[in-house]
Amino acid sequence: MRKPVFAGNWKMFKTPTEAAGFLHDFAPLVASSNRSEIVICPPFIAVPIAVDAARGSNIAIGAQDVFWLKEGAYTGEVSATMLAAAGCSWVIVGHSERRQYFGETDESVFKKTVAALDAGLTPIVCVGERLEEREAGMTENVLSTQFAGGLAGLTPDQFAKIVMAYEPVWAIGTGRTATPEIAGEAHRFLRDQVRSRFGDQTCQSCRILYGGSVKPDNIKGLMAQPDLDGALVGGASLDPAALAAIVNF
Ligand code: PGA
Repeated sequence: MRKPVFAGNWKMFKTPTEAAGFLHDFAPLVASSNRSEIVICPPFIAVPIAVDAARGSNIAIGAQDVFWLKEGAYTGEVSATMLAAAGCSWVIVGHSERRQYFGETDESVFKKTVAALDAGLTPIVCVGERLEEREAGMTENVLSTQFAGGLAGLTPDQFAKIVMAYEPVWAIGTGRTATPEIAGEAHRFLRDQVRSRFGDQTCQSCRILYGGSVKPDNIKGLMAQPDLDGALVGGASLDPAALAAIVNF
């Protein structure tokens, strides 16, 4: 059985004070939910206060990005070791906004994933096609290329520790969720990629989250897809009640 994961990606929202307030309100709403793992990914600056506010709860804290080296003259970057020392246990890698606006490539996704694993973090590695790629019938091509460049180079032991997220770019922040069938099809395709590279056992245990306009009213249909193991939630994760409704779907 694969334990579902619900991860909130706050993107560039919430100050440290707002992060603490969110956790204060959110924690009681999910306190009795033990069938899933729950992760909140605030901006770097709010990580320490979020870690404090989540202590003793069933909520883990993650970061939204990481650099692949341990330390050095890399202005503005944060290493996986630093994130782990600050109390993070998860990190999002290769989000489409990082790819689109900040030059993230499959190669950097791979290096960041390895660095995260070396520091004991669980990376949530994102893949997904853009609208024009879907419309051109390129979805499977894009997914297999991102998988090959960002993930296939991991060892089986490393791969067993990661979580994947399928995030069709056209569904992110647009209110245009993939239908459960579209998501299910992409998840199946990704699971097949895992099977051919890492074998059947890893394929069965690998968790693949869906992300893109997940809301309380569409999570149930998505979770009914057999290859879909949870969600990476952007906009709806900013509201404690909405995220709790998703977790407790
Ligand atoms: P959204 O974002 O839920 O606001 O569409 C999802 C994501 O980018 O991870």
